Amino acid sequence: MSEPVIKCENVYKIFGANAEKMLKDSNGNVDAKTFQENGCIVGVNNASFEVSKGEMLVVMGLSGSGKSTLLRCISRLTDATGGKIFIEGQDLLQLNNKDLIDLRRNKMGMVFQSFALLPHKTVVENIAFPLQIKGVKTEDSIGKAMDMVKLVGLDGRENYFPRELSGGQQQRVGIARSLAVEPDIWFLDEPFSALDPLIRKEMQDEFLRLQEKLQKTIMFITHDFDEALKLADRIAIMKDGIIEQLDTPANIVLNPATEYVRKFTEEVPREKVLLIEDVMDKTTDNLGDLKVSKDEIIENVAEKILNQEKSVAVVDNNNKIIGSINPAKIINTVFGGRKNNN
Ligand SMILES: Nc1ncnc2c1ncn2[C@@H]1O[C@H](COP(=O)(O)OP(=O)(O)OP(=O)(O)O)[C@@H](O)[C@H]1O
Ligand SMILES: [Mg+2]
Repeated sequence: MSEPVIKCENVYKIFGANAEKMLKDSNGNVDAKTFQENGCIVGVNNASFEVSKGEMLVVMGLSGSGKSTLLRCISRLTDATGGKIFIEGQDLLQLNNKDLIDLRRNKMGMVFQSFALLPHKTVVENIAFPLQIKGVKTEDSIGKAMDMVKLVGLDGRENYFPRELSGGQQQRVGIARSLAVEPDIWFLDEPFSALDPLIRKEMQDEFLRLQEKLQKTIMFITHDFDEALKLADRIAIMKDGIIEQLDTPANIVLNPATEYVRKFTEEVPREKVLLIEDVMDKTTDNLGDLKVSKDEIIENVAEKILNQEKSVAVVDNNNKIIGSINPAKIINTVFGGRKNNN
């Protein structure tokens, strides 16, 4: 396997005057309550994981669980209190200022939870700005920025100032600005949360389309499980600074690692998460004519399967039959008990 693009080893972020000393004295066993009693707030508690090239890791968790703080550590907007972070094998905490600026400018893109637009620049100037910092000629940068304006549906508003835009429109400028640079590593902190549902769905689709083409390494924070399911290769679920589970959507729903994760995913419709492969039978006898791919999400093919009298053949990428699925199985998955049902 190739080297991970992002690698975190026992990363901690503790806020407070005594943070470093308390972390050291705790030997890494950080108890949030004890820390709080001593004037420290635990933002991230012992996070270790890797993100590989082209992967989209979605980070979820309730408000205050440490999602933004984790992202800020990895983009080094804030310094982790402990642990190691590697970006393409480079030790992030060892980089000098110049290398860090280079890395941010050329490799990393960020979309913040707060929009962080420049108030005295127009929409198109805001989007073009990072390109100009990179040394792109003004004319070219404006051209590229205008493409992005169109992409996020703000044409006609390119000469507005941020204060003249709604929250959702400002967020779209933030997304466009970050997209314009075409970073390899992309950090997005609830980028779509201020958008109304229709535009949000469009942006998600557009985002997936872009990702298919560009294969960036992405960490994406969201509160919305549907959004996570739609976008994620893997999902990390955080609670009180701790990553409780990091796994594929199907595994998180089927095999929650903790009670918290189970509760968190209880209401997730299984048919939106599970693939045909996750629930198919191995038998291949007595099949009808219909074939479905093992990689289909159940929701997308449920109706077709329910309309069949015979079992439906499940095929792999080479169109070879590897199993079967019958209507009863679909009904069982969709309506069956969630807790004990595997
Ligand atoms: N600069 C700071 N100083 C002190 N505490 C902080 C600071 N930034 C974050 N925290 C604390 O760290 C914890 C995690 O905050 P963080 O912003 O990462 O949460 P989050 O999961 O992104 O929440 P939300 O979903 O509301 O954005 C919270 O308890 C927060 O109060
Ligand atoms: Mg946040």
